[in-house]
Amino acid sequence: MKVGIANDHAATDMKKAVMKHLQDEGYEVVDYGTDGYESVDYPDYAEKVCHGVLSHEVDLGIAICGTGVGISIACNKIKGIRCAHCSETYSAEFSRRHNDANVVAFGARVVGEEIAFQIADTFLKTPFEGGRHQRRVDKINKLDER
Ligand code: RB5
Repeated sequence: MKVGIANDHAATDMKKAVMKHLQDEGYEVVDYGTDGYESVDYPDYAEKVCHGVLSHEVDLGIAICGTGVGISIACNKIKGIRCAHCSETYSAEFSRRHNDANVVAFGARVVGEEIAFQIADTFLKTPFEGGRHQRRVDKINKLDER
């Protein structure tokens, strides 16, 4: 599986740690930046990773900022993106099983590295259940047109 990852300046160290963890687990990871610590605007990086997901350059995306809030809000403004802001693994699991989330976001200043690894692992390995959840996801997708 190919995974996209993007972050702002508050999350560069976390991004590097998550990337290394996922590569060690055998994932191919595309890094959409930022790479440094200079202040940047998280919507720009939300757009990059979401574009990767929507263009099928990557299968799923990970978006990280200080809290995970700003970058998840930005991701969810993009048509076709269902971004789940998660600070624990239960939400990460069900965001895939029930919501078919295609991007997971978390906060580098909120969760520790080990929790972040578990959130990412859970999100990436959990399939969408479909069935009655597909109808609800279809309704979410229709909201993109409103
Ligand atoms: C940057 O200081 C911070 O505002 C950003 O990383 C994020 O937490 C916004 O939601």
